[in-house]
Amino acid sequence: EMLEKGGFDHFMLKEIYEQPRSIKDCMRGRIYPKEGKVQLGGIKDYTEKLKNIDRIVIIACGTSWHAGLVGEYLIEEYARVPVEVEYASEFRYRNPIISEKDLVIAISQSGETADTMAAIELAKEKGATIFGICNVVGSSIPRITHAGVYTHAGPEIGVASTKAFTAQVTVLTLMALYIAQQRGSIHQGEMVKMLTELDEIPSLVEQCLKSNDTVLAISEKLKDSRNCLFLGRGSGFPVALEGALKLKEISYIHAEGYPAAEMKHGPIALIDEDMPVIFIATKNSSYEKVISNIQEVKARKGKVIAIVTEGDKEVKKMADYVIEIPDTNEAYLPLLATIPLQLLSYHIAVLRGCNVDQPRNLAKSVTVE
Ligand code: G6P
Repeated sequence: EMLEKGGFDHFMLKEIYEQPRSIKDCMRGRIYPKEGKVQLGGIKDYTEKLKNIDRIVIIACGTSWHAGLVGEYLIEEYARVPVEVEYASEFRYRNPIISEKDLVIAISQSGETADTMAAIELAKEKGATIFGICNVVGSSIPRITHAGVYTHAGPEIGVASTKAFTAQVTVLTLMALYIAQQRGSIHQGEMVKMLTELDEIPSLVEQCLKSNDTVLAISEKLKDSRNCLFLGRGSGFPVALEGALKLKEISYIHAEGYPAAEMKHGPIALIDEDMPVIFIATKNSSYEKVISNIQEVKARKGKVIAIVTEGDKEVKKMADYVIEIPDTNEAYLPLLATIPLQLLSYHIAVLRGCNVDQPRNLAKSVTVE
């Protein structure tokens, strides 16, 4: 087993460190930066269909649902198609309004999640076109969808999803740009720029991993917390949700993710000196807004841990701890900001003596409803 872990203490850590490669594998043969082209063989027969859809509905569970939320930002921004993101377990038990004009994208690492499968069957009966985004080749979901794109992240052993999540987000990025290109909602010059920057993501993820020692030191300070709040705006919001889920799953610390602006409608009541608040505070369109949220937390003596853009000075002055990540196109922020949050939950769980790879009560693949 030590061999399988490739020298790492746990599969989860190995899988976190595999991400520069898994993201690269996911893009291999699919992006052509110089030509400004995305090629997705698995869905190429549906190009005409993509021009005529009215709406996209993303269905998934758990971490895959968080990837779906990132997908919503990307698809709406670039392809300009309305997107809804649904929990498969909710979607399947109401009478959803779905027609032939809808494209349903089902996301599942395992390709076996019972609720996601049932939701797919329901949408199919109603005439929708179904794409799958799965990791396990030959699993059930790719067999019941019309078309799809594999994430190619390789086997994920740790129960808490890490590299599968970033690969799902990568595929959703490729799909957003592909649909945008088919529908003519993106200029060729913009495509070239986006793909050139996307091509650099694996090496930027590598740089994010260098924050490991800083994250370990912060984990020492947070390990005895009873609660944690994760806040972000825009696509930083799903990153916050995923950060909170990861911490809950493996360290058993109660954690919640919230859109930073919603803090004033509830979570702010919880803030005191025992409440660490983790902010996604990188330099992007919501930077100034996030700064005022940080001030609100500091005014109530909360402990602030902030993920910031390299070289940031403003947040550094206010936060108790900062973790730097490289600057990138705002569209790719989730792929980078997620990395230190994975490391944070990993180290906290290890320090608390938890079984990181097999947390209590959780299963890698949930084949019951
Ligand atoms: C389980 C796993 C999660 C995963 C979720 C959805 O709860 O522990 O890591 O996100 O199922 O699984 P799927 O295979 O459909 O992505």
